[in-house]
This record gives sequence, C-alpha cells and structure tokens, in this order.
Amino acid sequence: MKINTETKLIGLIGYPLGHSFSPLMQNAAFERYLLNKIYIPIEVSPENLETVVKGISKMNFDGFNVTIPYKIDIIKYLDEIDEYAKCIGAVNTVSIKNGVLKGYNTDGIGFLKSYKQNTGTKIEGKKVFVLGSGGASRAVSMTLALDKADKIYICNRTYEKALALSNDINEKVGECSVAVPFFHEDMKTAIDDSDILINTTNVGMFPNIDFSPIDKDLLNEKLTVCDVVYNPKKTKLLQEAEEIGCETVFGLSMLLYQGAEAFEIWTEKKAPVDLMLKILEDGLKEN
Ligand code: ATR
Repeated sequence: MKINTETKLIGLIGYPLGHSFSPLMQNAAFERYLLNKIYIPIEVSPENLETVVKGISKMNFDGFNVTIPYKIDIIKYLDEIDEYAKCIGAVNTVSIKNGVLKGYNTDGIGFLKSYKQNTGTKIEGKKVFVLGSGGASRAVSMTLALDKADKIYICNRTYEKALALSNDINEKVGECSVAVPFFHEDMKTAIDDSDILINTTNVGMFPNIDFSPIDKDLLNEKLTVCDVVYNPKKTKLLQEAEEIGCETVFGLSMLLYQGAEAFEIWTEKKAPVDLMLKILEDGLKEN
C-alpha cells in the first residue's frame, strides 16, 4: 500500500507489547478492501498512557486496540462506552469518529461468534462451566450471561475471585452464575451438569504445552470443550477432550473473531474472516 496524507492509522496499545498477530491480521484485511489504513503497534509505558491517548485523539487515527495491562485503565480516557464493555468493565477496542473516543469489548463477542460459527448452536439456555476468573474470563462469562446462558459455573484456583465475578454477573445481568470451589468433587458435580466447558486460564499455553488446566477424568463426551489458549492451536485440554469424544472449539477462532469484530467497528465493512484465519494459521506455524 502507498502511505500518504490520507492514510488512517489504527494502533495497538499495551505494555510491554510482546508478540502479536493483530498487525498481520488487520493489515491483510485492510489490503483486501484496498483501504488506506495501517495498523501499528504502539508500546506505551504507564506514565504516558493519558498523554498518548490524548495525542492519538488529535491525530489521523480511526481507533486502536487495547491490550494488557490497559483494558481497564483506558476507560477513564474515553468519551463513550458501549453496553457490553460497560458490563464487562474492560475495553479492548476503541473507535474514533469526529474526535469522539468510544470503547468496545470484542473479546467476549469474539468467543460467542467463534462458538456459534464452529458448533452451529446458540448459548441461550445452555449451562456453562468456565475455568478461571481473570480478564479473559470476565469478558467471556459476562457475554455468556448477556446471551442468556441458563447457568454459568465459575471455577478458579483463587475462590474469592470466582465469587467476586459470579456476584458481579448476578448483579449486572441477573441471577445465573455460581462460584465453584477448585476441588475435584465440586468441579465434577458442576461439569456433569454443564453442556459447555471453557478454559480461560493460560494453562497449556506455549511453551508449557504439556499441561491441561483440568484432570481428564472430569471431562465427559457430552461436553463441548473450548479453550481461549491459541498457541498451540490444539492444546492438551482440547487433545484430551477430542480423545473422549467431545466437540471442541479452538482458541484461534476466538482470536480471529475478536479481531474481525474490531475490523468491522473501524471500517463498517464485513471482515474477510477466511483471509484473517489463514494469516493467523500461517503466523502460528512460523512462530
Ligand atoms: P487473562 O487476562 O489472560 O485472563 P489474568 O487476568 O492474569 O489473565 O487471569 C489468569 C487466570 O488464570 C486466573 O483466573 C488465574 O487464577 P488465579 O486467580 O488463582 O491466579 C488462572 N491461572 C493461572 N495459572 C493457573 C494455574 N496454574 N492453575 C489454575 N489457574 C491458573
């Protein structure tokens, strides 16, 4: 592409900015539509966050993605925040239109689209067991509640955090969530009552690929098992779930759809998901 005075910028703000597939994926999507936009990583140290966001709002930016550790801190610098992001309490995508900064959260919606696309079924009425209660869990669990899951079991190594997230969901969306202690028997009872199991912890992520966040004997073949970990594509959890006969959903698909959703917010065009998926898969192979 030719960069000129009409070129619009989209940033990725975080600190430190480790490896990210977003620039490859988004730039390929912009090119597909011959859009005069470029996606660039911008590493911002905490003391400069406010200055950088103010600067961006006065420059030729259409928006930006926000990653660790700023998904919560960014909110105080935004003019508007959409309902999902408000409920989740974190923002990963910002659009800038006529100088107005609006925050969205596409992590949960990314999961939802990935689930629906891969399984051809809905979340509504389903019982879901979510492992972990950090940032990823908050986005996924709150979105499940907003999408009318019948029950959301939240199980975490640190029980207090599971309880806090569960209470927050029940207050904001309606009584549907229960915190589950991180003990084998409690987990078994909740999992046996569930249709879907989602790992939102980083257990199993490269280079610790020989670990699963859950004992294999807790799984059963009627579960759909989803992992938010995308490197490796087939985690130990998904491998064991497959062996048992469960339907599985890859984390790479959630990464794809959260990016596709952000692309659509910035461009108001349908994201070229097939191209974006190919870029992600190629990137993962080279990694
Ligand atoms: P993210 O933004 O990716 O969700 P996070 O907010 O740091 O990251 O949350 C990480 C989650 O993985 C937490 O729920 C964490 O459990 P604790 O709250 O007890 O720390 C969970 N986690 C990390 N390592 C784990 C492990 N080895 N076993 C079980 N859970 C683990």
